[in-house]
Amino acid sequence: MLMEEISLISEVTLTGISWLTTLFIFAVGLGALVVAVLFVIDVSQTSDAIRRNYPVVGRFRYVFMALGEFFRQYFFAMDREELPFNRAEREWAHRAAKGRGNTIAFGSTRNLAAPNTAIFVNCPFPTLDEDAVATKTMQIGPFCRTPYDAPSFFNISGMSYGALSGPAVRALSLGAKKAKCWMNTGEGGLSSFHLEGGCDIVFQIGTAKYGVRDTDGKLSDKKLQEVAAHDQVRMFEIKLSQGAKPGKGGILPADKVSAEIAAIRGIPEGEASISPNRHPEINSVDDLLTMIKRIRDVTGKPVGIKFVVGSYGWLDVLCTKIHERGAESAPDFITVDSGDGGTGAAPMPLMDNVGLVLRESLPMVDDILTRRDLRKRIRLISSGKLITPSGVAWALCAGADFVVSARGFMFSLGCIQALKCNRNTCPTGITTHNPRLQRGLKPERKSERVASYWRNITHEVEIIAHSCGVDEPRGLNRNHVRIVQANGLSVPMADLHPRPGNEAEEKT
Ligand SMILES: Cc1cc2nc3c(=O)[nH]c(=O)nc-3n(C[C@H](O)[C@H](O)[C@H](O)COP(=O)(O)O)c2cc1C
Repeated sequence: MLMEEISLISEVTLTGISWLTTLFIFAVGLGALVVAVLFVIDVSQTSDAIRRNYPVVGRFRYVFMALGEFFRQYFFAMDREELPFNRAEREWAHRAAKGRGNTIAFGSTRNLAAPNTAIFVNCPFPTLDEDAVATKTMQIGPFCRTPYDAPSFFNISGMSYGALSGPAVRALSLGAKKAKCWMNTGEGGLSSFHLEGGCDIVFQIGTAKYGVRDTDGKLSDKKLQEVAAHDQVRMFEIKLSQGAKPGKGGILPADKVSAEIAAIRGIPEGEASISPNRHPEINSVDDLLTMIKRIRDVTGKPVGIKFVVGSYGWLDVLCTKIHERGAESAPDFITVDSGDGGTGAAPMPLMDNVGLVLRESLPMVDDILTRRDLRKRIRLISSGKLITPSGVAWALCAGADFVVSARGFMFSLGCIQALKCNRNTCPTGITTHNPRLQRGLKPERKSERVASYWRNITHEVEIIAHSCGVDEPRGLNRNHVRIVQANGLSVPMADLHPRPGNEAEEKT
């Protein structure tokens, strides 16, 4: 009996080994065949020199290039190395969003001698906690039928429903409500996701007038009235340009134009929609002021403009024309976007090399408005990589009344900087319409993170302000920050960009 069992086991084992051997030989044979086929393909093709000269092996270059994108972030890049945001900045935003302590140990990992580093000027007698005051609301649009008393100096910048997924827009809207900040729709129109949370909304009018266009694509007063009828919609912003792609309109591919997106944007379903590279009916500063007046008259709400600064002589012309027409004709706010701002998709040369960065343009616009006595009439909003407290505090020092951020709030939603916003494959569900990838983004949960990020950044900007001896962030001015120069020494921002006429620095 025992012998029979042993022989059965040996027989099964031998059969198994024989199968495995056959399988192994088959696998090796198949592998060799695949290599041979790839070899023939590589040597006979003429489009790729590397593969032609190094058949098969040359293909590893592309594999490693693809994998390097993922591994660099985790294993090789230093904390302060990556762009557009390094690990230290991303980690700060993620921790702030999760409400985890954001203290660090041992010492700064930042190179404080690098040119353009901001060093805030603490005073010997910082503001005592009991003397600190909450930031007051700031009114925008004093001449409108419905001015907006904006409660927060830090808000959510424009990102369209389309560039962002439905769950992401919902999470931002719910989070903005909890934070009591505003949310800008971006140029894709107003969706139910924006309205759901009940937050204040800035409706952006892009060059295609999505959401407020008639059947010919022209601005429709009727649609404007419908949008303005929502109490939540507090302001309108005409987008002239965006830092990441000045002079370029957006392209919404046909397969993204679902029935829902088509209805929201006011375009035909299933047809690609190409937005013009500027507002076709705005050919001059006069046209711009006329358009601002029209939208303000129709909606009764504050109207502003957003642009990235390139040439800037036109801003002086704008001020002259405003004075000719009267102060009420001015845009109620100007949003200055940075040349290094983000987007869903844009050509690299526009992203890299067109449009001034905020470092230069924000003080410049503030100075022009101050020189032309329009600084208090026109509120100044700034955006561009202001995702940490020091960035926001810098902008307030430079002259901004408000700061808005797009990518900071994307990090609060869990963005991992996978750089896939232009494909439909965002792994965190933020910029994809693939339901499988959206599953990971739970709007209610993420809305807490949006609010927590807002709370922490606001709180830490207050800490910087108190350290500088002012009782609230808007008390910061150009004397409160020094900028490191190429020689490693810092100079006051007030010397680098002296305010015209040395006016009082307060901005209320
Ligand atoms: C995914 C994405 C979509 C965007 N969509 C718009 C848009 O529709 N309209 C707009 O004016 N700006 C848009 N922006 C630009 C941002 O509003 C902002 O001006 C820019 O990214 C700089 O801010 P940040 O550095 O905090 O991201 C978008 C940015 C991103 C990342």
